[in-house]
Amino acid sequence: MTSAELNSLFRPSVQQLAGYIPGEQPQEAGWTKLNTNENPYPPSPRVIEAIQQAAGNHLEKYPDPLVTSFRQVAAELFQVDPEWILPGNGSDEVLTILVRAFVDPGESIAFPYPSYILYGTLAEIQGARFAHLPLLPDWSFAPSATDIALAQKMVFVPNPNSPSGHCWADEAVLGLIPRQGVLVLDEAYGDFRDVPAHGPLLHGPGGRRIVITRTLSKSYSLAGLRFGFAVAHPDVIAGLRKVKDSYNCDALSIAAATAALRDQAWMQANTVRIRDTRERLARELVSLGFNVLPSQANFLWTTHPERPHADLYQALKDRKILVRYMKFPQAGPAGNQFIDGLRITIGNDPQIDTLLANLREIL
Ligand SMILES: Cc1ncc(COP(=O)(O)O)c(C=O)c1O
Repeated sequence: MTSAELNSLFRPSVQQLAGYIPGEQPQEAGWTKLNTNENPYPPSPRVIEAIQQAAGNHLEKYPDPLVTSFRQVAAELFQVDPEWILPGNGSDEVLTILVRAFVDPGESIAFPYPSYILYGTLAEIQGARFAHLPLLPDWSFAPSATDIALAQKMVFVPNPNSPSGHCWADEAVLGLIPRQGVLVLDEAYGDFRDVPAHGPLLHGPGGRRIVITRTLSKSYSLAGLRFGFAVAHPDVIAGLRKVKDSYNCDALSIAAATAALRDQAWMQANTVRIRDTRERLARELVSLGFNVLPSQANFLWTTHPERPHADLYQALKDRKILVRYMKFPQAGPAGNQFIDGLRITIGNDPQIDTLLANLREIL
C-alpha cells in the first residue's frame, strides 16, 4: 500500500488536518528555554515525596477512576462540592473531552483570535467548524464578537489570553455565553493574575453553562507530569465523565497533583517571584525599544517597531535562547493583515539577564 493509499484510509477531517505544532522542546542541555510558558522554579518538595510514596503503593492496581483525593482538594480551593471537579491528563485533555462531549461534527465553536491555536485543531479533529471572535487592536472584543459567540455550540476564552497575556473583565466574557451552548474559560494562567480568583462566575447568571479549566503545568511547575481539571456544575461534569477514559489520570500524577494543590504557599511564592520578574522584564524591554503589552500571565507579548521578529527569534536561537515567534494571519483590525511578535516566558532572574544581555548585543 502506498503512503497516499494509506492516508486515504483516515477520516477525511483527519486527512486534511495540519495538526497542532507544540513549542520546540530541545532535548540537549544548555538552552535558555523561554518558549512554552513552563515555570522556572521546581515543584513543591511535597510533590516529590508524594510521587515516591505512590510509587511504592500498588502500581499493579488501576488508579481511582474518580480521582477522589484530588477532587476533594480542588473543590476546597474553589469552594464547591467535589462533584464539580473533573480531573484530566493535562488541561489539553480536558479541552478535548469538552469538544468530544458537546460538539457534533458540522457544529461550530469560536474563540478569540489570536489566542490558543489548539482550539481550532480540536474542532477540526471533531469534524466541526470554527469561527474567530475578532479583537480590536487593544485586544478587547470587537462588537461583532458577541453575535458570533451567541450562535456557537462552544466558545473558548483563555483568560488570561495567550499570546497577549491580556485579561478580559468578567462582564466582557459573560456576554459571550452561547444561547444554546457552553462557555469554556481556559484559566491555564489564572494564578498569575494580579488578583487571582477561584470561579465566581460559576455561581452567577449563566453559571451553569460556564466551564472553567485549570492546569498544574504552569503555576504548580508540573508541565512534565500532565495534570489539569475542569470546574463546572455537577450536571455538566456528569456528562463529561461519560466521555473520558476510565483511568485518564495515573496513580503517580494523582498523588503529585493532590500534594501540589495542598501546598498553596509554595505555588504562591513562585507566582509572586514570576510577577516581579515579569514587571522587570517589561521595563527592560521597553528601554530596549520594544512595545510590551501589560501581562497577567507568566509571559510577555512583545513587538519591535523596526526589527523583524522572525530575525530576532533566529538570532536568539543561534545563541541557544528559545522564545516563541508567533504569526497570526488575518488578525489585523481590517481582517486581512497579519500580526506577529515574540512571546517570551518569564524565566528566573538569571535566565532573564541572559536574554536581555543577548538582546542588547543583537540590537
Ligand atoms: C491557553 C492554554 N490552555 C491550555 C494549555 C495546556 O496546558 P496543559 O499543559 O495542562 O495541557 C496551554 C499550554 O500552553 C495554554 O497556553
